Amino acid sequence: MGFPTHRPRRLRASEALRRMVRETELSAGHLIYPLFVTQEKKGKSEITSMPGQYRLSIPELLKETTEAARLGIPAVILFGIPKTKDDYGSAACDPRGVVPQAIRAIKEKTPDLLVITDVCIDEYTSHGHCGVVKEGKILNDETLEILSKMALAHAEAGADMIAPSDMMDGRVRTLRKTLDENGQTEIPILSYAAKYASCFYAPFRDAAQSAPQFGDRKSYQMDAANRREAIREVALDIEEGADIVMVKPALPYLDIIREVKDTFNVPVAAYQVSGEFSMIKAAAQKGWIDETRAMIESLLSIRRAGADMILTYFAKEMAHISGEKR
Ligand code: PBG
Repeated sequence: MGFPTHRPRRLRASEALRRMVRETELSAGHLIYPLFVTQEKKGKSEITSMPGQYRLSIPELLKETTEAARLGIPAVILFGIPKTKDDYGSAACDPRGVVPQAIRAIKEKTPDLLVITDVCIDEYTSHGHCGVVKEGKILNDETLEILSKMALAHAEAGADMIAPSDMMDGRVRTLRKTLDENGQTEIPILSYAAKYASCFYAPFRDAAQSAPQFGDRKSYQMDAANRREAIREVALDIEEGADIVMVKPALPYLDIIREVKDTFNVPVAAYQVSGEFSMIKAAAQKGWIDETRAMIESLLSIRRAGADMILTYFAKEMAHISGEKR
């Protein structure tokens, strides 16, 4: 036999062959589109650190959700930016608050588009933390009560799924219990199970005006150095009743996505967070990388690592491309 014995390049010779042997699929059906909604009556304002992403009034939000549905994106996730913030994030629990209003409007216009809501009070607190603060400490159990009210307000407004992102201990069990006791047994919980204390959330905090006013989130979000702890966090959330578990951020934590996927039998979500999005945008604006190719390659790597679904600000752009021929 001639040299070399093996020629893997044979199967890379044409696009048709490459398509036939492609292992990972990336299509609109895998994407969840995060959207920021405000209480403004009309209009939208661009988020400086996230080009092409906006804080949306409800009329503008409906344009986005209608477009997402048309592109075949199955779900959006909503983040509310309330008019008023206070120490307890009270606006988060208001049944007529920004997110419940947005849910009703979306469900009326596009009933088949799934509406997921982020359950966490950082966008609603004056101090920007994800929990109740006392003497500089973030209180766990006191926060769970507020999260319960918030989740219920979303469910009763018609949310299809709730996604707690606060990283308080015991929140999945608490929320499941509250939902069940109030007749919301069919609403799944997508838990931000392994959420790291990451610098890559910075543009989001700019968008939601939710940067902590003192200290950081390291007493509740995970340490970037830890792998086994992520498995423990995910195991606890599944035991407490999570239907889908999330790893966040995505690209710097592909190893965690893979390990969660291999260890558990529930669907895995990954969040390509604001900083991951904005880095690609910024480099592309400088002409240093090709935006579309960087988007596809990063999303593909997240799917390849084992994510069943990806929360990404590129959802529309990606769905648009995958609807065409790739
Ligand atoms: C908390 C929450 C955050 C993000 C999603 N949910 C912010 C944080 O933990 O500081 C970040 C998402 C992103 O960066 O795109 N409500």
